[in-house]
Amino acid sequence: MTSSLRSLIGDSNRYLKALSLFKERTTCYQNTYDFIDNQLPDIMASNLNGKSHLNIIGVGSGSGEIDIRILSMLRLKYPLMSVDNEVVEPNPQQIHDYKELVSQTPGLDYIKWKWNNMTVQDFEKDWKEKERTKKFDFIHMFEMLYYVKDRGATISFFQSLLKKNGKLFISLLAGDSGWGKLDKTYGNRFREPEVSTVFIDEIKQYLDSKGGSYQSYLLTSQTDITECFIEGNEEGELMLDFLTEVLNFSKSAPPDLKAGVLELLHHPDCSVESNGKIIFNYYSEVIVVDQLT
Ligand SMILES: C[S@@+](CC[C@H](N)C(=O)[O-])C[C@H]1O[C@@H](n2cnc3c(N)ncnc32)[C@H](O)[C@@H]1O
Repeated sequence: MTSSLRSLIGDSNRYLKALSLFKERTTCYQNTYDFIDNQLPDIMASNLNGKSHLNIIGVGSGSGEIDIRILSMLRLKYPLMSVDNEVVEPNPQQIHDYKELVSQTPGLDYIKWKWNNMTVQDFEKDWKEKERTKKFDFIHMFEMLYYVKDRGATISFFQSLLKKNGKLFISLLAGDSGWGKLDKTYGNRFREPEVSTVFIDEIKQYLDSKGGSYQSYLLTSQTDITECFIEGNEEGELMLDFLTEVLNFSKSAPPDLKAGVLELLHHPDCSVESNGKIIFNYYSEVIVVDQLT
């Protein structure tokens, strides 16, 4: 890592500001909602049909938009089903915002909530200390495994919590997308060498090595990054922080790194220009993992 650089995630306020700007500028949430509305019901049908109660965990749920979309879809498809929904989220502000969203969303009174304001590592420790034995129909972790070191152990732990026919959903960026290219080219300068990022490809390799079965669904996304190319533009700087995961990237990166990152982001491998806007293209995959056999 270039010594002047610090991680964005270490500054919770700026991380949340950057995440919120990203949510405004990306199609990734809408694409995930489309996946939840149009594909998830069929994927889950064999597991859900005939049930009157579901146990669910959302891991790294953030402010809950995706969780609420899933729960609302389930309500629509299975109006008589009750749900125990656990949330694992370490950031107190995110938990607060999630609870606000719950209070503003009508028709969620069929859900019993359990809020775990802790990291996934602490959740696993707590689970084992309390010798909990509950099993789950559906566990999801959307865009959160980046923040976990031993991803294999985390996946195995959550697989062990699945009921028979239960499903674990993992979504992450794909390594050969624009974001992956950025990371492969400059990641070693963004982060300490021992902190590696992860793409969905690595998770699939891990599952293949364990002989685990999974299905995979592609979600292509676009983000307007035009402001990143306007010198001194505050939102552009915030977006660059989010893309690189470096705090105050524009002000703290050495000139050669900043120039290289901007050039790569502008390159047709990563972006297209359309109507005067620079649109960053990338894709994520959702993989649906079965219980360990
Ligand atoms: C990119 S956000 C994704 C939020 C949400 N799943 C979504 O897709 O909108 C990543 C989330 O993971 C949470 N997170 C970070 N480290 C974590 C950890 N060690 N255990 C669990 N969650 C973590 C962050 O607080 C954040 O809410």
